[in-house]
Amino acid sequence: MHSRKTPHALTKRFCPTLASLGCAAMLLTAAQSTHAEQKFGFGHPISQKQLAAWDINVFADGGNLPAGSGTVAQGRDLYAQQCASCHGAKGEGGLGDKLAGGKNTLASDKPVKTVGSYWPYAPTLFDYIRRAMPLTAPQTLSNDQVYAVTAYVLQLNGLVPDDATMDAKSLAAIRMPNRDGFVPDPRPDVPQPAGDEKKSAQHKAIEQAH
Ligand code: HEC
Repeated sequence: MHSRKTPHALTKRFCPTLASLGCAAMLLTAAQSTHAEQKFGFGHPISQKQLAAWDINVFADGGNLPAGSGTVAQGRDLYAQQCASCHGAKGEGGLGDKLAGGKNTLASDKPVKTVGSYWPYAPTLFDYIRRAMPLTAPQTLSNDQVYAVTAYVLQLNGLVPDDATMDAKSLAAIRMPNRDGFVPDPRPDVPQPAGDEKKSAQHKAIEQAH
């Protein structure tokens, strides 16, 4: 049995005087949806657990990284089983992107974009792998497994040592080599914040090359 507040109870709680039209409209909607639920039997509050399955955005600064951890060694095994077939045993690429190497090539004639050379933040690597990989079975890895395989991809790029353990804190603490390599890309139709004329050395190098 659902215990639901009746529109009347809601009225008493939220709109003692019913002075605001907006509030009246809100109650009307609440009353209608309660009615629809009773009549058709659909619509119900979702649980925190159900919500958690959708709440998987990880932010560049490590915000919303989940609990859990994984080591490079664990990641190496998992990678061999679930990633190497497409990305190569050492991240050299194949069917899937090259994940390692390309150091200092971005401003050259032949830029090689990999996790190590290109990605500006480590926490978003966790997000990407958890969300999208392995390509044929996305979102089948546990958070611990994603931490582990993230650790291994970072290790392949020489960004963490062989005995590293990745968790929310250690992942957020990694400074990726290309962290400052991204620059604003001003469009004439988009208002630009002040200070954008300051370009990084890398951007200038790329511009000169073209
Ligand atoms: C069946 C092939 C396949 C498997 C298996 C696979 N991937 Fe991928 N992966 C791809 C493809 C294809 C892309 C490029 C997707 C795109 O650009 O939309 C990709 C992209 C990536 C990227 C982003 C690379 C970049 O720089 O943009 C990462 C990181 C990654 N995969 C990690 C993994 C990990 C870790 C595993 C194992 C858990 C894995 N992949 C398993 C095919 C695969």
